[in-house]
Amino acid sequence: MIGVLSVLVATLVAVDVVGADDTQRIRYDGYTVHQAVSSSHDQLQQFMSETSHLPLNFWHIPHAVNDTIDIMVGPDVLHDLNAVFDKLKMESKQVVDNVESVFEKERRSMHHIRRRATPSIQSYTLNYHSYAEVIDYLQAVSNSTNKSPNVHADYFSIGKTTQGNDQAMIKIYRYDGRTKPAILIDGGIHAREWIAPAVVINFIYQLAFGRDREIQAMLDDFDWYLMPLVNPDGYEYSRLRDRSWRKTMNVNPGSSCKGTDANRNFDFHWNPYSGGSTNPCEEVFSGSSAFSIPESRNLGGFMRHHGPSIKAYLTFHSYGQYFLYPYGYSSYSVASDHDELASLARTAVNAMSSDYVIGSSGKDLYPAAGGSDDYAKGACRIKYSYTVELPPRDAFGGYTGFILNPSQIPVVAADTLKGLKAFAIELARRQQRQRL
Ligand code: ARG
Ligand code: ZN
Repeated sequence: MIGVLSVLVATLVAVDVVGADDTQRIRYDGYTVHQAVSSSHDQLQQFMSETSHLPLNFWHIPHAVNDTIDIMVGPDVLHDLNAVFDKLKMESKQVVDNVESVFEKERRSMHHIRRRATPSIQSYTLNYHSYAEVIDYLQAVSNSTNKSPNVHADYFSIGKTTQGNDQAMIKIYRYDGRTKPAILIDGGIHAREWIAPAVVINFIYQLAFGRDREIQAMLDDFDWYLMPLVNPDGYEYSRLRDRSWRKTMNVNPGSSCKGTDANRNFDFHWNPYSGGSTNPCEEVFSGSSAFSIPESRNLGGFMRHHGPSIKAYLTFHSYGQYFLYPYGYSSYSVASDHDELASLARTAVNAMSSDYVIGSSGKDLYPAAGGSDDYAKGACRIKYSYTVELPPRDAFGGYTGFILNPSQIPVVAADTLKGLKAFAIELARRQQRQRL
């Protein structure tokens, strides 16, 4: 235990120094975020084609009619964006006046929490952390002797990223001689969506150290695989260089633009023309082919290998408060067992106080091919596969996009855990009914 603590203290100090180095950080002074509502699929398509030559950064693409499109722009592009809104008669609203000041508030708040933290395994659940700290945390959980009775946690890596970082996973399970089905959970496939890894880190803590009845039931019924950072390269880049970075960090031959949208790169109905892109400079670049990058290939390989034992897959993103189920690859592709998927999602959503919309991900407005959820279900036969878009949903007022003050981590994590508990307990019930 002493060893773990001193490692922790050393990392906290080291990262504080790195965090203070702002010289190479991309700044967003004077950038603004605009929110518009698209009233139909056609209008969204039209908007996308009219703005395709503009350097826009999409914070949120709508998942349903009447959902918002949230776009960040630099001061020199604002005029052109407004011209497109006018042309298509779309109402819009400026929801962030200066993006850099929002990013700065987040940094300050992280720093503040870090300074007050008493080193302990639990303190990792209260803030955003570097990749190195996340690895330390997973190893500390796996080495800890204070887990709940008979609970084991095995740390391992499913493979390396382009930059040689580990895609670290932890398996948490109760050793009681029974073979159990598994649940797979991940977060951070998109670099900037920091609340997702933070929530997964909280789940890990609860599964390893939580003593309440529901956690015990979850461990009686399932083995748990959790991966907080699918895309550690992009995550580090978003921490140190560009807060709004979404993709991985691979070099793209023939282009000066880096990275691939890992959630467009999975090998099931891969199609850059459906919600992705063939242009490496776009945020939703689908890659040169399916599984062209290790991040998706490794995770896909893991899913395939363990597919038969994995009963559910939950991939955490932010933001928008959606509980989405396959398929996402086109607007016309709804899973045949969608009723069962929707009703299990309903159980989870009813247990949370945040208000989530449940839906099929491609159907309503925003198809996107190559997602991990589609691959899990379509290629690996993992029946209950979901993308969960965490809070906030925003509405007009108090808008923060994917920036969530770290003080909100415990709040969002606790609420999401309620949903996960209800989800697992209901899934176990369905499994049991099937066996009878
Ligand atoms: N916001 C997520 C993304 O853009 C949604 C993914 C939904 N799933 C899907 N297969 N399209 O990646
Ligand atoms: Zn995402």
